[in-house]
Amino acid sequence: MRIDIITVSPELIKSPFEHSIIKRGINKGLVEVHFHNLRDYAINKYGKIDDTQFGGGAGMVLMIEPIDKCIRKLTSERPYDEIIYMTPDAPVLNQKIANNLSLVKNMIILCGHYKGVDQRVRELLITKEISIGDYVLSGGELGAAVLCDSIIRLIPGVIGDETSALTDSFQDNLLAPPVYTRPANYHDSKVPDVLLSGNFSKIEVWRSEQAFERTQRIRPDILEKE
Ligand code: ADE
Repeated sequence: MRIDIITVSPELIKSPFEHSIIKRGINKGLVEVHFHNLRDYAINKYGKIDDTQFGGGAGMVLMIEPIDKCIRKLTSERPYDEIIYMTPDAPVLNQKIANNLSLVKNMIILCGHYKGVDQRVRELLITKEISIGDYVLSGGELGAAVLCDSIIRLIPGVIGDETSALTDSFQDNLLAPPVYTRPANYHDSKVPDVLLSGNFSKIEVWRSEQAFERTQRIRPDILEKE
């Protein structure tokens, strides 16, 4: 997989790609991530990439020309399956979206900033819009990092234990069951007996029950969806 991220703040978004599971995916050659500074496509030598809104109103809007130039350069080099715009006024990221995007070969992610982008960018250049939740961030960079993490960890081989990503919360529209490790007894707080029983079919049943109970209690909206 190849991911190209277009941003006005490359430094803001680089760090999550230099650690842990994402870094492992990159080091194993399973994913390439490239950052593009929108300022390199500015419309003048002063680095202009945004302007005031037509019709008045607070906040600067990212102009279409630098974004178009950057996307055109990338699409002239290879085909892209998705050109994604991170914005709060879009469908909210969920596991199903992440699962689908983990199968994509090449994608561009455009991070919004300021008051957003000229609407024509969204209409003419973007194939998919994603929000990471019902709150407004200062820009799309953190959202893009969240999206990339949710996708990259699903690429086969990125996580050592192949089954691990499949047993995550949300994969069956259920939250994950609780997990425990040593010691089995910590100051009289004990691990459930069933997990120490060695009876794997009983353990599976217990885990399913716990997943269902937790989902019903904490996120009943997920159960209602199906
Ligand atoms: N940019 C600003 N807020 C955002 C959000 N909630 N999700 C994605 N991108 C954003």
